[in-house]
Amino acid sequence: MTLGTSPEIDSAIHTVGLSKAYGAVRAVDDLSMTVPRGEIFGFLGPNGAGKTTSVKLLTGLSNPTSGKAWLLGKPVGDVPTRGRIGYLPELFRYQGWMSAVEVLRLHCELADVPMGRRKTEIEQALVLVGLADRANDKVITFSKGMQQRLGLGVSLLGKPDLVFLDEPTSALDPVGRKEVRDIIVELRSRGITVFLNSHLLSEVQQVCDRVAVIDRGRVVAQGTMAELLGAGEIRIQVTDLDEAGMQAIAPFGQAFRSDEWLTVVGVAPERVPDLIAELVRLGARVHAVERGRQTLEERFIQLLERP
Ligand SMILES: Nc1ncnc2c1ncn2[C@@H]1O[C@H](COP(=O)(O)OP(=O)(O)O)[C@@H](O)[C@H]1O
Ligand SMILES: [Mg+2]
Repeated sequence: MTLGTSPEIDSAIHTVGLSKAYGAVRAVDDLSMTVPRGEIFGFLGPNGAGKTTSVKLLTGLSNPTSGKAWLLGKPVGDVPTRGRIGYLPELFRYQGWMSAVEVLRLHCELADVPMGRRKTEIEQALVLVGLADRANDKVITFSKGMQQRLGLGVSLLGKPDLVFLDEPTSALDPVGRKEVRDIIVELRSRGITVFLNSHLLSEVQQVCDRVAVIDRGRVVAQGTMAELLGAGEIRIQVTDLDEAGMQAIAPFGQAFRSDEWLTVVGVAPERVPDLIAELVRLGARVHAVERGRQTLEERFIQLLERP
């Protein structure tokens, strides 16, 4: 095997200019991204940003208006590759009168899991999602969290190498969220690539290796969590700094303001004293200086700030 041949071949997901228009609405607009294999990739954006549409394009449920995408080295739509993909839709509901094991059996049929493997796969899925002791109970008796875990179990049938999870924790309470996060981390430890759609930033921050932030169909940032949050960042509590002052410190890094706190991203450590000296020279009053990382939430709000 030759390594590093090309992103189409090497990545779990690679897209080039992927777009989907619904009439005048550009649901996905020129999406280009690369998801490495074996990672948890967070696909973040506010409601209506285009996350679900992107997943539908990638899973082949919807056709792009333009652009291309590859999954596990093959163009989207490649039939053998479909068997290596798992998908948990955003809104799903199983028949309340079916038991967990019956739901899993049905989906083994739908996913064409070979007959001889079904029993073992169902048992393994139930164990992984923590429903082994509820296998024969009806879905109607399940909490939302249990239904979501059952959905995860379904998406894992056929032992996929790549799973798409669309807002798997949005409807859950904190305990349910933690359970789902733990399962996601377990999937990665088994070598599965997880593509996680979410508008819940703290969720993503806790489990993802890499993220893309999407807004109005376009990627506004992508990278590792460290890249996105800025490893070299400084927070300064400052008063008496006017707009001209903000502009004067631009050469030091990307500066953002939230009340009295000024965050400057990408400042070289040896330039921090110069930055403070400059602020003082500009007439600002410095009350505190700390090294910090932004939370993903702060970064997200900056990225989505409308001009
Ligand atoms: N089938 C459809 N027909 C028309 N517009 C759609 C359809 N699906 C999604 N949209 C529109 O595309 C945009 C992106 O939607 P969606 O991908 O569901 O966003 P998200 O999952 O990030 O909340 C929204 O403006 C939505 O109204
Ligand atoms: Mg959605």
